[in-house]
Amino acid sequence: MTQHIYLVGFMGSGKSTIGKALSKELGRVCLDLDEMIEERAGMTIPEIFDLQGEPGFREIETRLLLEILDLPPAVVAVGGGAFIQDYNRSLILEKGFAVWLNIPVDLAWERSRRADNRPLGRNRESFESLFFEREALYRMSHLIVDIEGKSPETICDEILEKLS
Ligand code: S3P
Repeated sequence: MTQHIYLVGFMGSGKSTIGKALSKELGRVCLDLDEMIEERAGMTIPEIFDLQGEPGFREIETRLLLEILDLPPAVVAVGGGAFIQDYNRSLILEKGFAVWLNIPVDLAWERSRRADNRPLGRNRESFESLFFEREALYRMSHLIVDIEGKSPETICDEILEKLS
């Protein structure tokens, strides 16, 4: 496979962790889009949301998604909202291979609530609405992997098996 492999899914689904493991197995670089956004902006994600709002954040996210198309095939862990924007989703589905790490909402909340770096993960009610609004869009991914009760190694093996 010569395209990027994009890991998509809700906050807390383990995109960064699986991204690192999968990239090692495939001998590829792992690109963490949220980290790249913070580097580009010279600010943390909550600071970007505070200063530029979500639209400012999304603008940098899309710009970077376009820029990385020129890089050699990598594993790309994208933030939970990247695949939700129509333009980004078409780009990822046309140019790459999308893997949805499907996590149940309760587990996503348990994992995300403790982190203070997720501006959209601070309130349970809005977190849950966002989750259910997004589900059908994540489902458009090329590959769906249910992650509940599985170790990162098992998830990684499952993806590798489906890719081969
Ligand atoms: C977001 C998820 C975050 C980050 C930003 C917005 C979202 O990434 O991109 O806070 O819209 O779901 P993670 O999914 O890695 O937490």
